[in-house]
This record gives sequence, structure tokens and C-alpha cells, in this order.
Amino acid sequence: TAPTAAREDADPGVEPAHADHSMSALRERCDALHDEIVAGQRGAVDRQHALGKLTARERLDLLLDEGSFVEIDMYRRHQIHGLGMEKRRPHTDGVVTGSGTINGRRVFVCAQDFTIFGGSLGEAHALKIQKVMDLAVSTGSPFIAINDSGGARIQEGVMSLNGYGGIFQRSVQASGVIPQISVVLGPCAGGAAYSTALSDVTFMVHDTAQLYLTGPDVVEAVTGQRVTHAELGGAQVHGTRSGIATFVHDDEESCLKDVRYLLSLLPANNLETPPRLPGRDAAADLRPRLAEIVPAEPSKPYDMRAVIGEIVDDGEFMELHEAWAANVICALARIDGEVIGLVANQPMVLAGVLDVAASQKAARFVRFCDAFSIPLVTLVDVPGFLPGTDQEYAGIIRHGAKLLYAYCDATVPRIQVILRKAYGGAYIVMDSRSIGADLSLAWPTNEIAVMGAGGAVSVLHRRELAAAPDPDALRAELVADYTRQLMHPHHAAERGLVDDVIDPVHTRSALARGLAMLRDKRRQPVPRKHGNLPL
Ligand code: HXC
Repeated sequence: TAPTAAREDADPGVEPAHADHSMSALRERCDALHDEIVAGQRGAVDRQHALGKLTARERLDLLLDEGSFVEIDMYRRHQIHGLGMEKRRPHTDGVVTGSGTINGRRVFVCAQDFTIFGGSLGEAHALKIQKVMDLAVSTGSPFIAINDSGGARIQEGVMSLNGYGGIFQRSVQASGVIPQISVVLGPCAGGAAYSTALSDVTFMVHDTAQLYLTGPDVVEAVTGQRVTHAELGGAQVHGTRSGIATFVHDDEESCLKDVRYLLSLLPANNLETPPRLPGRDAAADLRPRLAEIVPAEPSKPYDMRAVIGEIVDDGEFMELHEAWAANVICALARIDGEVIGLVANQPMVLAGVLDVAASQKAARFVRFCDAFSIPLVTLVDVPGFLPGTDQEYAGIIRHGAKLLYAYCDATVPRIQVILRKAYGGAYIVMDSRSIGADLSLAWPTNEIAVMGAGGAVSVLHRRELAAAPDPDALRAELVADYTRQLMHPHHAAERGLVDDVIDPVHTRSALARGLAMLRDKRRQPVPRKHGNLPL
């Protein structure tokens, strides 16, 4: 059998004639073509490896359970003429598509093949992706796209753009129905970049992955700015600044392993619940360290991740956007075998304030958890929203409202735990009972108020303090009085806004009991077309 390249060059559209039409000869030729396509073109595969990248098929081998991949549309080729395209009609058209399993659970996948037309997306390529997306939705299975592509295939013009449109349309319709995961392992330019933004979660790897709407050449031509691929859209940029990369990895192997782990925490679709593991007797599990990690003084920092480690099963949690908006933590974990989504202020970063980025990060996470029936646990230790012109001009009102909206709209079981301070709007937004938390627990160190004692006294007693012979002594007295009256541990509990004041060491057990209590929660929202989320 002629190698693929020769076959393409020799024959633009028609298969070569063969004399032998016996069953064995037909089978042999089919097998040979199959093997040829799977092997790929040697030189191109070597170039891909030399770039530090695996091939599309090697990636699928790492992602899927061994031997589970069922390929669809392997023989598909473009039907384009002009610009020399009729001479190059490689099978697969630059994307490997199909289905397989991850830990025995079905998923649909596409993996772009950079060795063919730079993984660029033409009509046939797009139709292949659309076909597996449709199958993912109709079978209620997660969809995983591995991106390694130069974007819209230039030679196919408007049909490439049309192909992207069809993918976006499907992605939006599938949003909240099946988990959609993008894995960026090479260039991901132009239209492809929007696919990642429309998916639920985006993985990237350092060095080889780039994600941007327009590449460095276009940037320079239009703006005169010279910028490298990595500076423009590397994993570092999207993991720390734009917030587009949810997870960033050093290499493809660890990245694909983590995709498998993420899938183990998600349901296959919105009609299922996340996979449960056997219980751990968490309801009887006391954690003395919790009383030591958190200082009683409200402004002393500590690492909230240490608290989370004590609360969740095996101290294991998967943090989303670890290096972006680190003042709020969003993580998936389990308590007593049940998957939960954790939203927590991080007093170690910017004192745990809520700002534009933190609001966006947490809002998107809350929507994600709610869409996929993941109960929410919110750990509160927040001094408020970050004040100042930077934040106001950047639209903190609009972005903070996203978080508010996301919580108000969420129908999954919701438990709030107030560790220390919970001031002002940030108290309301961090899943207070008033916006629909099902259970609110507070530690004895809780301080829920419009603002901290110092600020409150300054506002309420400005004139008295200015006129006082000893302002410091008067201030101390007023602060003590304010604290005694409005900020004692049971103030909110006496008013039903906190359901229980718990010893910190009981936090894990109280959450396990709370989650069990709320497990069958149902809430039917009033029918409407859709709400108007403050975007
Ligand atoms: C057709 C493409 C291609 C494209 C790359 N190739 N991008 N073919 N259409 N969009 C081909 C190259 O011609 C080359 O073919 C092979 O893929 C490998 O590309 P190289 O440039 O040699 O590789 P490399 O140096 O690694 O650079 C990769 C790259 C660069 C950064 C992706 O190719 C590039 O900048 N491509 C264009 C990116 C882009 O602007 N895309 C359009 C975006 S607009 P041979 O035959 O030599 O192997 C868009 C609109 C959609 O997507 C918007 C919807 C909202």
C-alpha cells in the first residue's frame, strides 16, 4: 500500500484501482489504510515530538482507559478545491474524534492533530467535532476537547468560520447539561480560543500551550507591540492574570491525569449526581487542629487551605484557579464520600477581601456546582469588598453582583460556615441565610456586622471622639461597647440568621451531618425564559 502522503499527491479524489476484489484483499487493504492513518506521517510526528508535544492519539491513550477508545470518522477528508487543497486530503482532517471511558465512565472526545494542517479547523474537521458533541449530549456524557490548532483553516475561508459557529452553538446548548472540558496542549488561536471560554473548565500546560484571539504577528501589525507567544497567551498568563486557565500543569502527562481526576468528581450530566464514595464516619470525626489554625484575633492571617485540609476527606481537594484571585479559594473535594464545592475566603491573600477577580471566580464556580448538583460549602472570613477607585471603575458592583446572583439562583444544598469576621455586603454575598443558604453555622469567633468595631465607632462617634480629652480611651470604651452589643458569638444565632454556634473541632462532623440532612433537597424555580445575570 502506498504511504498516505504519496496517496494524497497521486490522486486528488478517487481511490487507486485494485485488481483483487476478494474479501481477503479488501480486508487487507482496509487494515493497511487503518494502520497508516493511526501511525500518521513519520516526519510530522517527529516534528510534533521535537516540539515537546505528544500526538493526538498518544494524548487520547493517556486520557482514556486502556483499549476503550472507539474512533468515529477516521476516514473523513475535506472536499475542498482550490489553493492546492485538492492535492492534500489527509484522512481524519486533522482531528481524532470518538468515545471512550475514564474510570469506566463514558466520555466523548476530540483531539486536534497539529501534524495535519496545523490542526486548523476546516469544514470536515468542524463537522466531526459537532458530531461527537451531539452524541455527548444525546447520551448524557462529558465532552473533552484537546486543542492543538492554528485556528480557522485559512484555505477554507467562511466554511471554517461557519464550523466554529456550529461548535459554539452546540457548546452553549450543552452548557449546564454535560460537563465540557477544554485541554489546551498547543496553540489555540482565534475561534478555538472561544471554545475554551465556553467550556466549564480549561486545562493548560506551560511552555507549549498558547491561547489567544490574535497571534503575536497580528498584534504587532495592528498595534506595533512586540510580544512573544508566551507573554501573549501562555499558561502563566491565563493561570494568573486572565483567569481563563482553570488548571495549569508542567507537562501533558500530569495534565491528562488531572482531567481524569476531575471527571471522578463530576456527574456525567445534569440529571445525575456526582459519584459518591463510601462514607467515612465523618459525623463522628473531631478535628482539634481546627481550633489552633485560626487565630481568634479577626485580622491575623492564616492559611485557609489548612482549614479545608482538616474538613475534607483525606485532606484532599482540587483547587480551581489556584493562582488567579487567590483571595478566594474555589475547590472540589469530598466530605464523608460526597462531592462538595468549597468557596472560601483566603485571609492570607489581600486579607481575604472580595474584589472583581475574586467575585468572577467564585460566581462562575457557584454556577458550575449548581448546574452539576454539587452541594456548596462556603467558609467565611471576610473583611468586605475591596474599596477604592480601581475597583469601582473596574465595575466591582457589577462583578460582585454576579456572585450574589449566582448564590441566590443556586438550588443545590448550601451550607455556610462563619469562622471569624463577616462584614457588610461581603457577609450577605458569601451565602448568608438571607440569600438562600440552607444551614448557617458559626464558630465562637464569629463577628457578623455592618462593619468592624473600629470603623463603626469612627462613623458613629466622630464628633464625640474629636472633642474628647482622651480620644484613645474613649475609642477603646466605645469599641468594647459596640463589640459587646453587636458582635458577640450568639448575636446572629439569637435572630435565626445562624442556625448553630459550633466548636471549631466539630466543623467536619457538623458539615457531614448537614450534608446528609440536605441530601434530597428539591427546589423548583418559578418558570421563566431565563434570568438576566449581570454579565
Ligand atoms: C491553515 C495552518 C493554519 C491555519 C497553521 N497552519 N495555522 N493552515 N490554516 N489557520 C499550517 C501551517 O501552514 C503549517 O503547514 C502547519 O500548519 C504548521 O504551522 P507552522 O506555522 O509551521 O507552526 P508553528 O511555527 O508552530 O506556528 C503555529 C501557529 C502559526 C502559531 C499556530 O501557524 C500561526 O500563527 N497560525 C495562524 C494562526 C491564526 O491566526 N489563525 C487564524 C485565527 S482566526 P505546513 O504545510 O507548512 O506544515 C480564527 C477566526 C475564528 O480562528 C474566529 C471565530 C470567533
